[in-house]
Order: sequence, then structure tokens, then C-alpha cells
Amino acid sequence: MSSANRPPLVVTIDGPAASGKSSTSQMVAAQLGVRHVDSGMIYRLVTAARLRAGGTSESWTEQSVLEEAGRVSVAPGATSFEPLLDGEPCEGEIRGEAVTRTVSLVAQMPRVRAWVNALVRATASVHEIVVDGRDMGTAVFPDARLKVWLVATPEERARRRIVQRTGRQPTSAELAEETRALEARDAKDQPQTQPATDAVWIDTTGITQEEQVRQIVLLARERR
Ligand code: DC
Repeated sequence: MSSANRPPLVVTIDGPAASGKSSTSQMVAAQLGVRHVDSGMIYRLVTAARLRAGGTSESWTEQSVLEEAGRVSVAPGATSFEPLLDGEPCEGEIRGEAVTRTVSLVAQMPRVRAWVNALVRATASVHEIVVDGRDMGTAVFPDARLKVWLVATPEERARRRIVQRTGRQPTSAELAEETRALEARDAKDQPQTQPATDAVWIDTTGITQEEQVRQIVLLARERR
């Protein structure tokens, strides 16, 4: 196919929680001059919308979540898509504790997954994107130009998360607790967290973020 009629570039970066997907994807997108889409952010947005509607999460049905989905949108910015709830920016709310605690429940609902996937595909129909998530290379973009699967040991992912949160290295007790929490989250998200058979695996345990980004950008430029 000539470059004139090739579909817009899509690079998928999937992997488990705290594998560095979002920050790596942002840097890869910036170097390629395309936009970053964080699909986890959209699950978080729908969850925040459902939380605003009230009731305990045990009573949430798929239908009641989808009824709130109309309040959610993503606005293209210079380098990414901004999350909007009722037309207002809501980054703090979607990263907060209440959403983090309940989002796995929402992400397991098949019709919610179909709704999120349609929204992500719509962004790729008009923009070149680097998209990160759990199943972008399998369920959403099986024909993506480049698919990356990022892995790192649970301990290393836990260490990075604590450094990000506190700005210092963890104690061994903190590391053990965060590792347990991450493994519990991995188990909840496991059904939808799958590498594509044609994904390039990058184990980030022993390499810097700059090196990961360099490897992915190189591959993307080869396939562009
Ligand atoms: O990456 P994150 O922590 O922001 O993801 C939020 C939740 O959404 C988490 O429970 C995993 C889920 N998720 C998913 O099931 N599929 C995706 N493509 C992205 C995220």
C-alpha cells in the first residue's frame, strides 16, 4: 500500500499496572509528533461519572454505568486527549482513591468495554496515535502498525510507583506492601490484560525509561 492511502499510524503499548505504559507512551508520542491516548483514563472517566451518580459500587449494573457514559468526553489537545466530565476537566478526580478502588469493577463489564473501545477507535480514525492500555493490541487495534508489550517484575513496578508517589526509595516493608497490592490488582485485571501474539516484548526491569522510549521510537519509525 502506498503511504498516501495507508491508515493513520497506531502504536499500541500494553502491559500490567505500573509497567510505565503511560509515561513511556507520552514520550514516544512526543518524539513521533502524534497524540497519546490513555485508554485507562477513559475507564476512569466512566467510573467517575458513575460515582457522581451515587449508590454503593456493589449495586452498580452495566446499564447504570452506560447511562452515565454520555457525560464523558475526551478533547484533543496538542499532545494528548483531555478527560472531560460534564464538559469540565477532571484529572484530579479520575486519579483519586474512589475511582482507583472501583475502576476494575467497571472495566470488567463487557458493554462498557465495547463503549470505551469504540471511543478509542474513533480517536484513531482522525488522529495518528500512540495508545496505551491492557488490550489495545488485541481487542481494539489488531492491525496496529506496531504493538509493544511492556513487562517488569512486580517488585520493580512497586518500587517505581512508590518513588513516583513519594520522591524517595521505599523501605522493604513499603515495598512488600505495594508489591502485594499490585499483584492483587494484576489478578483483577488479568482477564483483559493480554499480549498480542505479534507484540514486541520489552522487559523494562533493567533499562532506563529513555532506553525503552528509544527502542520503541526506532521500531515505530521503521514501520511508519
Ligand atoms: O492503567 P490504569 O490504572 O489507568 O487503568 C485503570 C483501570 O482500567 C484498570 O482497572 C485497568 C483497566 N483497563 C482495562 O481494563 N483495559 C484497558 N485497555 C485500560 C485499562
